[in-house]
Amino acid sequence: MADHEADVVVVGGGVAGLCVGLALMKAGVPSVTLLEGRAVGAGNTGRTTAHLMPWLDDGFQSLARSHGAPNAAHLVAAQLDALAWIEATVRAEGIACHHARVPGYLFAQSPENENMLEGELAAARSAGMEPAEVDWEDCGRGVGGGGGGIGRALHFTATAEVSPLLYVQGLAAAFERRGGRIFEGTRVKTYETHAGGGQGGFAEAAPPAATIRLRDAPALRVTARSALVLATCAPCNRDLAIHARQSAWRSYVVGLAVPKSGAPGAPRHACWWTVDEAEYKYVRLAVDESPGASTDVLLVGGEDHEAAQAPPLSEEEAGGSPWDRLEAWARARWPGAGARTHAWSGIVYEPADGVGLVGWSPADGPGRRVFVVSGDSGQGFTNAAVGALLAAAAIGGAPTPAWAGVFDPARLMAAHAPRLALPGLAHEGLATLRGLVKSRLVPSLTDIEALGPGCGGVGQAGLTGKVAAYVAGDGTRTLLSGTCPHMGCVLTYNGRERVFDCPCHGSCFDREGVCIQGPATSDLARIGRGEGSQAAEE
Ligand SMILES: Cc1cc2nc3c(=O)[nH]c(=O)nc-3n(C[C@H](O)[C@H](O)[C@H](O)COP(=O)(O)OP(=O)(O)OC[C@H]3O[C@@H](n4cnc5c(N)ncnc54)[C@H](O)[C@@H]3O)c2cc1C
Ligand code: FES
Repeated sequence: MADHEADVVVVGGGVAGLCVGLALMKAGVPSVTLLEGRAVGAGNTGRTTAHLMPWLDDGFQSLARSHGAPNAAHLVAAQLDALAWIEATVRAEGIACHHARVPGYLFAQSPENENMLEGELAAARSAGMEPAEVDWEDCGRGVGGGGGGIGRALHFTATAEVSPLLYVQGLAAAFERRGGRIFEGTRVKTYETHAGGGQGGFAEAAPPAATIRLRDAPALRVTARSALVLATCAPCNRDLAIHARQSAWRSYVVGLAVPKSGAPGAPRHACWWTVDEAEYKYVRLAVDESPGASTDVLLVGGEDHEAAQAPPLSEEEAGGSPWDRLEAWARARWPGAGARTHAWSGIVYEPADGVGLVGWSPADGPGRRVFVVSGDSGQGFTNAAVGALLAAAAIGGAPTPAWAGVFDPARLMAAHAPRLALPGLAHEGLATLRGLVKSRLVPSLTDIEALGPGCGGVGQAGLTGKVAAYVAGDGTRTLLSGTCPHMGCVLTYNGRERVFDCPCHGSCFDREGVCIQGPATSDLARIGRGEGSQAAEE
């Protein structure tokens, strides 16, 4: 890549960046370039279960309480518009990604929680959903009937599913067909905005909205003439106006082979999710469309915990791993399920008031043209479509949806959400503080000299430094900085995934120190390598 200019530069090649990029091209933006640090779909987009649902994870009752009735109605309208955008885009661009409408069932795991469903239905109706869009359905009580032993549930008819990687590959192809440029393996290190930049729209070359530096080619300059879009899940900057408003959570998924539709014990072709906050689960039947496939896969997700708060492996042994617990939960409901076929986890970002952060970035100041798409709340595919609609309006001149304001990242969360957001914001702020304090005060975390093969940990290096260590099967130690390059929080080792997680804003590094999840833009500094080598000072 040489020095490069485009009217809009989008950073991040996940579902959000690709939806925004395509929407901007369709809105008539002359040139859009997308920079992706790894490969298209390599982030959390490749880890989704791709339920496309009209219900919002935080629940309509809670959102109506915290945001007020008019904004709850805006959120329902936005969700339905996002689902319609996805369906129309798949059709218009001819994306072969198995997009289909399927029944979506919201259910309670215990009779005591069934009154929550009554409340959700009432809240959905007051927010504008018609009986044709959500109503009761009896899924049949009996375990083994394909419905997971779920009795009465709320049926959301606008629910859909998609094969996520086929969808993003199709979006990428459609974006390029319209003239969009994609550069993979191109990680953004920093960017600089310019006062008054980008105000000339697409015609004026100067002053540009932003100039961007790349991690692996620092001499090159990428220029965003009219606007810069950050679609890196958590924005690749140090903007606490965003980072302090959301927290990173790790969510787990297990896949079980199940009989094909029509065979005894086959689950219904549907999506399910639970209304119970404490034991939240989500389930989808993924039909294996490959020729000759003899089974489908039941995807079961949940067991969420704050990133970097994973219990140590030894504590988990008694109750099994998160994947074991998900499997046991699923087998009790779908006893026809066969062998485990998949197990993975990924990060979702929970905004303090439960609503996505999509719009002009508050930290870059008035008149600075940096647009962010973040705060997926586990519903990143519809949040990405919201991003497409809002970016097309804000940057491409398309009509602004009536609901745009509820997603404004600069909104006063506390004013709108007195019960939810104040504790939420305090909580997210405390996560940063905890991580920073831990990095200064905790004298020793792991005795890295005692680590055995296949183990990792974060320990003390000298008086104040931290070292992240991993010991390979042959005894070779990799020693890295134990401090997150984003804003300096001390990392923790996640033995289940064999990665180093940051407790503050969800950055994640593999055991070689390579950044696999931002907002950090750098890898961990290498301290040393070698059998039994001493931890060096940072
Ligand atoms: C287990 C799990 C289950 C989920 N289930 C659902 C579901 O059922 N339905 C749903 O809608 N959502 C679901 N989600 C959420 C959804 O997957 C995510 O919200 C969504 O994929 C986020 O998309 P994104 O494009 O914002 O981020 P990502 O997919 O993470 O993409 C960001 C991209 O930016 C790149 N990047 C980062 N930093 C830089 C940089 N400095 N320079 C260049 N590139 C950079 C990354 O490499 C990455 O490819 C789930 C998530 C998980 C983890
Ligand atoms: S992700 Fe922000 S300090 Fe680590």
